[in-house]
Order: sequence, then C-alpha cells, then structure tokens
Amino acid sequence: MGSAAVYWRNLTKQGNLLRIMLPESSPFSPNQRQTLDSLLAGFDALQRGWLSGYLAAGSSAPAVARAPVSAGKLTVLYGTESGNSEELADRAMKEAKKKGFKAVMKNMADLSPSDLSKEENLLVIVSTWGEGDAPETAVSFHKAFMEEDVKLDGVKFSVCALGDTSYEKFCEIGKQFDARLEALGAQRIADRADCDVDYEDTYTSWFASAMSALAPITSVVSAVVPAAVAIGVEYGKKNPFPSEVSDNVLLNGEGSAKETIHVELSLAGSGLSYEPGDALAVQPMNCAQMVKDVINAAKLIGTEEVEVKAVGKKLLADALREDFDITALSKAVLKKLATVTSSAKLESLLAEGASDQLKEYINGREIVDALIDFAPDGIPADALAGIFRKLPIRLYSIASSPLAHPDEVHLTVAAVRYDTHGRPRKGVCSTFLTDVAKTGESVPIFVQPNKNFRLPADGNTPIIMVGPGTGVAPFRSFIEHRAAVGSAGKNWLFFGDQRYTYDFLYQLEWQDFLKDGHLTKLNLAFSRDQPEKVYVQDKMLENGEELYKWLEEGAHFYVCGDASRMAADVHEALISVVKNYGAKTREEAEEYIENLKKTKRYQRDVY
Ligand SMILES: Cc1cc2nc3c(=O)[nH]c(=O)nc-3n(C[C@H](O)[C@H](O)[C@H](O)COP(=O)(O)OP(=O)(O)OC[C@H]3O[C@@H](n4cnc5c(N)ncnc54)[C@H](O)[C@@H]3O)c2cc1C
Ligand SMILES: NC(=O)c1ccc[n+]([C@@H]2O[C@H](COP(=O)([O-])OP(=O)(O)OC[C@H]3O[C@@H](n4cnc5c(N)ncnc54)[C@H](OP(=O)(O)O)[C@@H]3O)[C@@H](O)[C@H]2O)c1
Ligand SMILES: Cc1cc2nc3c(=O)[nH]c(=O)nc-3n(C[C@H](O)[C@H](O)[C@H](O)COP(=O)(O)O)c2cc1C
Repeated sequence: MGSAAVYWRNLTKQGNLLRIMLPESSPFSPNQRQTLDSLLAGFDALQRGWLSGYLAAGSSAPAVARAPVSAGKLTVLYGTESGNSEELADRAMKEAKKKGFKAVMKNMADLSPSDLSKEENLLVIVSTWGEGDAPETAVSFHKAFMEEDVKLDGVKFSVCALGDTSYEKFCEIGKQFDARLEALGAQRIADRADCDVDYEDTYTSWFASAMSALAPITSVVSAVVPAAVAIGVEYGKKNPFPSEVSDNVLLNGEGSAKETIHVELSLAGSGLSYEPGDALAVQPMNCAQMVKDVINAAKLIGTEEVEVKAVGKKLLADALREDFDITALSKAVLKKLATVTSSAKLESLLAEGASDQLKEYINGREIVDALIDFAPDGIPADALAGIFRKLPIRLYSIASSPLAHPDEVHLTVAAVRYDTHGRPRKGVCSTFLTDVAKTGESVPIFVQPNKNFRLPADGNTPIIMVGPGTGVAPFRSFIEHRAAVGSAGKNWLFFGDQRYTYDFLYQLEWQDFLKDGHLTKLNLAFSRDQPEKVYVQDKMLENGEELYKWLEEGAHFYVCGDASRMAADVHEALISVVKNYGAKTREEAEEYIENLKKTKRYQRDVY
C-alpha cells in the first residue's frame, strides 16, 4: 500500500485527531507538507473522510478500498411524469447500495401513505406539473398523503424537488412533501433541494449531503464520484444525437389559423431506440433575431467573451444562441437581474407583498422586456451571462412507430406564435423546428422514455384514444405499431381541431387505417366549423353507451394534448359516461375510473 493510502487510512482510523503530520516520504515538498498539514488540521473527521473519498474517486488509481458498512434500509420514493425523477431515483438507489444500504426505489403510483410508516430512511424525489400540481402518476398518492394522518416518527427523510423556475409554483409539490413529512413526525436529515431544469449539480450535492447525514464516514465516498464516463460515443441526455431532418411538412391547409408541422428525423447511426408512447427531447437554439434583441437591449455588441458552465469561454452571441435560456422570464431571473442593475422599479417589484404585481409583470413578457425596462443603460457581458440558466430541452410525443419507420422518429409540432405587450413572440423550440430545422439541417435529440403511456401488452386488448390537435401524435405511433405487429385489438380514435378543411391532421393516413381495419372507429370534433364549439368530449358523450361497453370489455383509455382545459374536460366526460351507462353514482364512477388508473388502463400524456 502506498504512503498516500496509509495516510488516508490513518485519517479514517484516527477519526477526530486534530493534527496529523504528512510523512516525509509523501510526494510533497516541505512547503507543501506544511501547507497541507495546517489546512487539514482545521477539518473534522467527516470532512477528512469526504475529502479522502473525493480524491480517491477523482484519481486514476483505484479508489481506496473500504468495505461497505451495513447502513440500514433506505427507500427512494419518486413521483414522476416525464421520467426525470425516476431516473434520479434509480441513480440514488444504486449509489446508496454501493454505500452499504439495503436500498430500494418505489413509485408513488404503487403505494399508499401508510406504507411509509415502516420506512427507516426515506429519500423523496418528486417533480411538479401543471400549475403546481403533482405529476400524473402521483396525483392519488399526493392527495392521500396530504389528507391522511400517518405516523412517521422515526423516519429520517430528505426531499429533492424537481421543477422549473419559469413556473410560478416552482417545485411546489416537493415543498409540500417536505413540509408534510415533517408535520407527520418524520425527521429531516438534509435540507430540501429545489432543482431547476438543469438539475444535475443540485441533485448531486443534495444526494451527497443526504448521504453524509445518513451514512457513516466510510460510506461517503461515492456520493461525489463523477458519473461514469462512457467509452465510445453513446448518445442520450448527456450527449444528444445530432439528427438530420429528413422531412419537414406543414400539416395544415392554406387558410388555417394553425401551424402544425410533421417533422421526420433520422436515427441512423445513433443507437437510439424508442417505443410508442415515448417522447423525444429536442435541444433547440434561440432565434437569431432574439439574440440580436438581447444584445441590443444590454447595449453590447456580441463579440464579448463570456463563461458558459461546463463549456468554457465563448463569444456572447454564440452563447446566447446555443447555451442560455434568453427568453423565459421568471422571478429567479429578475432576482439575478436585480443584483447587477440598480433599478428601484425592479426592487419594488421584487419586494415582499408585491407578488401580484410581479405576476402581472411576468405575464406575457420575456427577458428582453426586463432588460429594456430595468437596465436602460445596459449591463456588462459577464453580468448578462450570469442572469441566464441553461437553455432547456423541450419534449415532443413521438408520432411514429419504430417498426413502421426503422431508423426514423416523427413529431407533430404546433408552432407557438403570439403577440404580447406590443411585440410579436415565438416559442423557442417549436419555431426552431418549424423555421430553422428544415430538411438536411441537424437537430440535437435524445429519447425520453415514458413507461406511463404504453400500449397494452396484449395486442387483443381494445384501445380508446383521445387526442385533439398535436395530442394525436402518439396515437399515430400506436396505430402504426399495432398495424405492424398485426394486433387484433380494436382501436378507437377521437380527434379534434379547429376546421375539417384545414386542420384534419394526417387525414389520409387515418382514412387508410379505417379502410384496412387498423382503425376501428374515428370520431371527429371540428370546433370551428359551426357556430357552437364541438369538442372531443362531446363526441365521447354522444357515443357514451359504446364507449362504456368497450371499457367493460377491458379497453385501455388514453388522453394526449392540452393539460390546461382539455384533459380535465375529457376526464369529466369519462365520469359522465361511466355514471350514465354503468348505472353508477358519481362516487362509484370516480372509483371505477380510479381503478382504471391503478390498473394502468387510463393513461394520460398531457402538457
Ligand atoms: C410530454 C410532453 C409532450 C409534448 N408533446 C408535444 C407535441 O407532440 N407537439 C407539440 O407541439 N408540443 C408538445 N409538447 C409541448 C412542447 O414541449 C413545448 O412546450 C412547445 O413546443 C412550446 O415550446 P416552445 O419552446 O416553442 O415555446 P417556449 O419558448 O417554451 O414558450 C412557451 C411559453 O410561451 C408563453 N406563451 C405561449 N403562448 C402564449 C400566449 N398566447 N400568450 C402569452 N404567453 C404565451 C407561455 O409562457 C408558454 O409557457 C409536449 C410537452 C410535453 C411535456
Ligand atoms: N406547455 C406548452 O408550452 C404548450 C405549448 C404548445 C401547446 N401546448 C398545448 O398543447 C395543446 C395542443 O396544441 P394544438 O395547437 O395542437 O391544439 P389545441 O390548441 O389543443 O386545439 C385542438 C382542438 O382542441 C380544441 N379545444 C380547445 N379547448 C378544448 C377543451 N377544453 N376540450 C377539448 N378540446 C378543446 C380546440 O378548439 P378551439 O381552438 O376552437 O377552442 C381545437 O379544436 C395546446 O392546447 C396547448 O395547450 C402547450
Ligand atoms: C406542462 C408542464 C408543467 C410544469 N409545471 C411546473 C410547475 O408548475 N412548477 C415547477 O416547478 N415545474 C413545472 N414543470 C417542470 C417539471 O417539474 C420538470 O420538467 C421536471 O424535471 C419533470 O420531472 P419528471 O420527469 O420527473 O416529471 C412543468 C413541466 C411541464 C412540461
């Protein structure tokens, strides 16, 4: 064993020794030894143990051998909608196992609150959706946990909340779990971490602090071990695949108020695979005009150098185009802006008790507006760079089956364009796809699996799909897939959009599927073809008797598209159908639907 290993081992053995002298045989000069000795004397045993593991893990030499101690049981409880919390829970569980814990991960979807009273050590990783709501799969658990009186004395916990600072109710559900766990008697062993969309660093330091609070010193090592570096090129979240756009087609007819495009991307050579129900993550670039507007608003020129985390130095204009979220305005951004400007107007907007004014200001505005309003004299390039977060990916439901289109992935994208506060605005990613990602261009992508939106395992099972607008995307994938594998199950689609003539997305394909029997029933709701609105849920109600019959035959029920109104209205229509045609009370109908959810026969992919 080398002298360094002996030294570090002695440190661990001798625990709280205040002064340990580096041996002369160590590979340091006398000056370096003196500096290190005096530095280390100020560290306690935990800090030394941590440092020991950190250095061992970071060196090319094998990590210092430490037998994992039996650190007890640990549960990583997660609530997820698009899979991030689940992925982190999986990592946390594996890391905890390496530290000697008997670690398991559990999905909120499969538990009831009383199950938690048996826990010893509990790490909770949960995201927030909608407008401060629980993720789809955790809605029931969250509701029950907030209402039921469960005794959690003796349970040690910490919460990692996933969210997005551009939402008003940032990490709301994680905050609620954190407070409720404490109220029910559990003991918080590490502070909650609130993660923005770029959650890697926050998650890593949360996990390290939870582990050092729960685990003995010897088990702290791998909390800081950097994630394994893949050998060879592996494409995924950390390394998106530069996919070539093979087609980009406008699906709406001329005269439509909508702009929905069908994008085909090549997966050739990527090693990426997907299943129907998965989403594709797209890493966009900001639009060139917005980059110019931001540079002008900050009174800069764009050739200044700025530091980009994990990338290094870059020209400001390039960083604004490729790396920073330069549009989404949030309280977090305004707070950072306030530290680099001296605007009394901004200070008062951020003051306690001004939350209504703040909300009103943010509504419909982007970062460029705030720069114009609160930094009229401009700001230095590095200060400007400091107010942005990383440009986040956007998810799109995959609209193709890998069996029908090997080496390809298709999307159905609605361009987001609107006017507010006297400026035309456009969504970053949707218009990157419509305007920039023309055929032959390259788009960075990775697959975001969605285990909670899957075709039934048995191809004979009937399916009912409700997908207005771009919500129809995954159902194109479903039908293509069932056709390709020759599933015998019946398929029923409810589709809606504004007008039959212009907005019947994939019209010819649906008609072909109907003709060859791969689509059993198609009900259409064109909302603006008549004076009164007609929506998909109206068609469900009109066909309620048959819909209930399909459910009784074991059909799976899927909803995709708008979360803000459509999903709730369709849910309400489903309750009415079950109530009316199943001769049930409202409570019984709700219970019936809750049971569909529990048995994964009612799945939603709403955004
Ligand atoms: C799981 C999942 C699947 C999805 N699938 C699809 C899909 O198949 N097809 C699809 O098109 N989209 C889909 N989306 C939505 C998609 O991810 C993006 O959110 C969407 O394309 C908008 O992104 P953007 O970058 O263009 O807009 P952003 O730059 O993110 O801007 C959107 C923001 O602009 C603001 N805004 C938008 N309209 C207005 C308005 N009228 N007035 C004021 N402010 C407004 C809002 O703050 C909104 O949040 C999906 C989302 C999820 C989570
Ligand atoms: N989170 C985001 O950033 C983001 C970005 C893009 C899209 N989205 C959501 O994704 C959805 C899909 O967009 P899209 O443009 O393809 O289609 P869409 O706006 O959902 O419209 C599709 C059809 O649904 C109808 N509709 C409106 N309200 C409804 C309701 N309460 N119940 C049922 N149907 C309803 C529309 O009718 P009318 O238009 O005639 O009312 C239209 O006929 C959008 O609604 C939007 O909310 C979210
Ligand atoms: C439609 C939509 C709504 C969201 N609403 C919120 C919100 O209200 N508050 C928040 O902090 N984050 C919100 N988020 C961000 C998610 O919490 C974030 O993307 C998280 O990483 C998702 O984790 P998951 O994959 O485990 O569900 C929202 C994201 C989407 C796409």
